[in-house]
Amino acid sequence: MTIIVTGGAGFIGSNFVFHMLNKYPDYRIVCLDKLTYAGNLSTLKNVMNNPNFRFVKADICDRKAVYTLFEEVKPDIVVNFAAESHVDRSIDNPSVFLETNIMGTATLMDACCKHGIKRYHQVSTDEVYGDLPIDRPDLFFTEKTPIHTSSPYSSSKASADLLVQAYNRTYGLPVTISRCSNNYGPYHFPEKLIPLMIVNALNDKPLPVYGTGENIRDWLYVEDHCKAIDLIIHKGKVGEVYNIGGHNEMKNIDIVKIICNTLGKPEDLIKYVEDRKGHDMRYAIDPTKIHSELDWLPETKFADGIQKTIQWYLDNREWWEEIISGEYQNYYNKMYANR
Ligand code: NAD
Ligand code: TYD
Repeated sequence: MTIIVTGGAGFIGSNFVFHMLNKYPDYRIVCLDKLTYAGNLSTLKNVMNNPNFRFVKADICDRKAVYTLFEEVKPDIVVNFAAESHVDRSIDNPSVFLETNIMGTATLMDACCKHGIKRYHQVSTDEVYGDLPIDRPDLFFTEKTPIHTSSPYSSSKASADLLVQAYNRTYGLPVTISRCSNNYGPYHFPEKLIPLMIVNALNDKPLPVYGTGENIRDWLYVEDHCKAIDLIIHKGKVGEVYNIGGHNEMKNIDIVKIICNTLGKPEDLIKYVEDRKGHDMRYAIDPTKIHSELDWLPETKFADGIQKTIQWYLDNREWWEEIISGEYQNYYNKMYANR
């Protein structure tokens, strides 16, 4: 079995590469990644010499490069993680989100149609459903919840999902889509809430909480997401959407306080700053379908996962120090200096 994993030098994609190489010693995993600011070859250093692994630097929008790779490796399965993934960046500059997340998805699926494939899996997000009200804890996103996006990021992901479904219906491409809630864990780029707060707290820098900090996200340990995708590509039904989430809703402010307390840092590092434009209030997944059809349940409780994650950032300082010493500083100043 040969699997092309796009975006495998990023946060979730790299964790998926590790999971698959570990679990299936007879599979060949080919990682296709453009190495944008979010992709990091040092993340993959422990698998670079694995004979079942190959890294190819390419853009999923580059039709020639994608077709050449497909021709050469003849993949059985493609799992598409490659994306521009940060909501704040999409508010600042939507166009690259449309290019990569929509056109890149179409290019990959064209290659799949041309070369034939057993499965194309699209890694989507719960953000395509928009948000839920804070005062209705009885409401959850199911696979039937209408698409109703808020940010350029979520709109680009929703557009890609619609195209994936169109390629299934029109060309008979064997597709599946997963829509997962917020992930956390090792190799998470420090522009996102949890790693940003850990890194800033370790550097005794202010912890910028948007708005009131009351917004709720439904957090899932990254390994549980990878296991769910593994199940879907092997046992999921073609043409179906699967929501992934573990009923772990937390307010942003409570997470930031846990990080302060675990690291022994004072809560007065917390600074409430100007809110994100169009900020979604609450995400919450109903995972009944993937549980009942594929027997998936999350294995890592948040209380354990957050401790493991904080410990990983303590043990892997060189990984994130290298990141924040470069172009990241310009990003940080642009996003936070006048907030
Ligand atoms: P990430 O930003 O950490 O990694 C994205 C990777 O894609 C990087 O390695 C980057 O170099 C690569 N990439 C970007 N543009 C590319 C292009 N044009 N061609 C080839 N490679 C390109 O993202 P992540 O958090 O790992 O998210 C992975 C996927 O999971 C995304 O599709 C995202 O929408 C989805 N998702 C993320 C979350 C989350 O909480 N992070 C939750 C649900 C779904
Ligand atoms: P983020 O990690 O960007 O994920 P998403 O927007 O895709 O859910 O943000 C998670 C939550 O944390 C979101 O409500 C915005 C908030 N947030 C802050 O309060 N401060 C920050 O510096 C960041 C990056 C996010």
